Amino acid sequence: MHPICTPRLFVVPTRPEAASGVRVSPNIWHHPGVYEVENRGVDRDGLLWSSMQQRADWTGRDVLDIGCGTGFHLPQFARTAATVVGVEPNASLAAIARRRVRRLPTVSVLVGVAGDLPLPDASVDIAHARWAYFFGPGSEPGLAELDRVMRPGGAAFVVDNDATRSTFGAWFRRALPSYDARAVERFWARRGWERERLDIRWDFDSRADFESVVGIEFDPEHADLILAEHPDATGVDYAVNLWWRRF
Ligand SMILES: C[S@@+](CC[C@H](N)C(=O)[O-])C[C@H]1O[C@@H](n2cnc3c(N)ncnc32)[C@H](O)[C@@H]1O
Repeated sequence: MHPICTPRLFVVPTRPEAASGVRVSPNIWHHPGVYEVENRGVDRDGLLWSSMQQRADWTGRDVLDIGCGTGFHLPQFARTAATVVGVEPNASLAAIARRRVRRLPTVSVLVGVAGDLPLPDASVDIAHARWAYFFGPGSEPGLAELDRVMRPGGAAFVVDNDATRSTFGAWFRRALPSYDARAVERFWARRGWERERLDIRWDFDSRADFESVVGIEFDPEHADLILAEHPDATGVDYAVNLWWRRF
């Protein structure tokens, strides 16, 4: 990923998307196939899933996945949820997500943005946004929409990098030195969100997969550095923050 236009790590609003609040996401927009490989290699032990479920179980409830991309996480929610809605601004990715869930009658995918959700008031029990839109400062319109669509008693989860820790976090800091992890933490804490620090893994089946994924997440200079410094790696430790809040 380029420090000025990153996907997962650095997401910078640019015109014309800025008007609608769409965050440029080159990793998944330009490389949905490699991003699928990446998603399969993220948190294979399911720490994020079990942590979310312990806090707010979605069994029999209505789930919203904001910035669902190609819908990778929709089937997992659909296993027990009453309904699942994925919202995604990129129409091509939304089409892939629809194909993925075509045999799951409780799941739908809508084109839309976090700051203007295509959902009625008080219609969601569990909201989830994984490396999508909610990166701290700048996500206020999306938070206002959460206030509108969440039912009382519902819970929202935001998964994002913890740039202060782990091998992946060190790569992130080096590639984006202007990123202010403390400012992001203050943003969530001031708004009453709680944080669980999780140490997940980023593991791939082969060196070729690892290299491909590093190549969509970092600009060429940093990708080359990472691969040279980790000549045999097929994965690394990856610290993330699970931010969450009850409504
Ligand atoms: C890094 S991808 C993550 C996709 C998915 N959550 C996953 O984990 O596979 C970020 C996604 O956020 C979407 N996105 C960008 N701006 C958005 C916005 N304003 N509202 C909702 N989603 C947005 C992008 O189109 C992209 O699909």
